[in-house]
Amino acid sequence: MNKEHKIFILPDEKEINCKEGDNLLQVLADAGLGIRSVCGGEGTCQRCRVIIDRDGEKKSVLACQTDVRDDLKVRIPESSRLTGEKILVEETDEKGILRQPGKYEEVEANPLFHRELIELPPPSLIDNSSDYDRLKRALKQKTGRENYSLSWSLLQKLGARLRSNNWKVGVSWINCDVYNEIIDITAPDEMDYYGLAVDIGTTTVVVQLVDLATGLVIDVKGEYNGQGKYGEDVISRINHASKNENGLSDLYEALIKTLNDLIEEIVTEQEINPDNIYYVLCAGNTTMIHSLYKVNPNYIRKDPYIPTFYEPPALKAADIGLNISPEARIYAYPAIGSFVGGDIVAGVLSTGMYDNEQLTLFIDIGTNGEIVLGNKDFLMACSASAGPAFEGGGIKYGMRAMDGAIERIEISDKDYEVLYKTINNRPPVGLCGTGLIDILATLQAAEIINRSGEFNTGLPTDRIREGSEGYEMVLVYAEETGIGEDIVITTTDIKHLMRSKAAIYAGIRMLLNNLSLEEKMIKRVLIGGGFGNYLNIDSSINIGLLPDLPRDNFKFLGNSSLRGARKGLVSCDLMKTSKEIAAKMTYLELSAENQATDFMNEFVAAKFLPHTDLDLFPSVKKV
Ligand code: FES
Repeated sequence: MNKEHKIFILPDEKEINCKEGDNLLQVLADAGLGIRSVCGGEGTCQRCRVIIDRDGEKKSVLACQTDVRDDLKVRIPESSRLTGEKILVEETDEKGILRQPGKYEEVEANPLFHRELIELPPPSLIDNSSDYDRLKRALKQKTGRENYSLSWSLLQKLGARLRSNNWKVGVSWINCDVYNEIIDITAPDEMDYYGLAVDIGTTTVVVQLVDLATGLVIDVKGEYNGQGKYGEDVISRINHASKNENGLSDLYEALIKTLNDLIEEIVTEQEINPDNIYYVLCAGNTTMIHSLYKVNPNYIRKDPYIPTFYEPPALKAADIGLNISPEARIYAYPAIGSFVGGDIVAGVLSTGMYDNEQLTLFIDIGTNGEIVLGNKDFLMACSASAGPAFEGGGIKYGMRAMDGAIERIEISDKDYEVLYKTINNRPPVGLCGTGLIDILATLQAAEIINRSGEFNTGLPTDRIREGSEGYEMVLVYAEETGIGEDIVITTTDIKHLMRSKAAIYAGIRMLLNNLSLEEKMIKRVLIGGGFGNYLNIDSSINIGLLPDLPRDNFKFLGNSSLRGARKGLVSCDLMKTSKEIAAKMTYLELSAENQATDFMNEFVAAKFLPHTDLDLFPSVKKV
């Protein structure tokens, strides 16, 4: 039998047990300690660094590359933790103000799903229709529709349910364009019925509880996606599913657990019966929806990048083990490509751009930059692989937007002193995406780096020095930081950031070029996703991440995927619109043979600050 070991976690002061030879990253993840693992335990991202303390002697190790051989004292630095980041659970209103639960007026409640109390005439020798026909007859009188289908499991319970409730029952049903279905029959005592709008992100999952009768948003909760322990981006998750015997089950179970935990939290707090939740509408990227459906996403990343499905079929909650009514229907928005998923369809739905004259650019910036350009006449989308730099991956002191992350910076162009602001004003521990964009813009404005991102080494400051990876600049000296070492930005970091911003901007250019449009024709730029909400527009334009357009044209949307899911949940018509959006949107595969060379040319041209062609950035050129 394997020997048992104890691990004492600091600063949490928590003790956990494990077996000899267990992987330290896995042990910490299983104990609910979210540890960053961008590469999914491959040993390449350096994000899972922890400090092992043996009798006062400290050693920094990668948790994913460490097997437990004895009792350990392990300190987890803030920068290696997955927790503490603000999860974007709320939607914002038209003015960008975060919304609280309540009635959101812009959508008329007209859900796909209905529930009413129905009283049937009891059968007799004269009225001898079957139970099922009797129910269909009552529904026809109510809705004018016929041909209601019924699941086998419900058919088996039908006779007893009608009789035990004296022919007065709560009936739940769906009417849609092509079919009518009876979903459940219950006792008449509880007639509440609810739905869940769900945003399944690679990093976080958000669940919103909605009263389907009124469209009222009752509660919203968000949590880290439990799949995080198998890697932070979709590629690491796909690798996990492909390379491990139980990899797909791992992803599926982690996601279902996250959903069930959130559901439990909501129903407990709101004191509602989970059996009264009948309808779930999910928005997620193609990989997340494949993992929800327990379908291996491995083909998504293999040439020619074709997923198993774009349009997910409806499921029953019982099929995937969601702890709500077992008869509840689970729907997910259709994807339009391997890397442009139902979350983007939901986002487009939430923006209304599909119905608007104005040419609109919608961007969701994460590890992939998903970009949609269009208006009421056309929509075209692509996904530019930005890499993890904007989420702190591959950056020496990069981290997510958590306490202590530097999010704003100013550098004097006289004495090169640095002023910074950290999240929640905690001692600095690293650099998050918004901070990194600010740093790049500021370094260039102060002429500390040139347009190729190289340091000007002749400046009168000790902050610029030679480090282990070439030149670097000290942003915060060790005595001021929360990690006891200098926080620097290196030449390699700058090159990574420039590659990331170039990929996104090149994606925007590709859409414009393919549609023979010009940047100045774009009337609105809508920015969705968690990262987008905190972006500094001026800095983003100055480095050439976003197009140089009037600042009033930019608008943050908050969690646009969640908002799109809710709209479809409460409005049958909008659910139908989402399908029309998916059918109308053209997917531009940037790695396809006929696009790859043009994309590469755009990408190379964008790998300068802000761009090789300064005429594309007139307001930056002027400065
Ligand atoms: Fe350990 Fe990436 S190096 S998870």
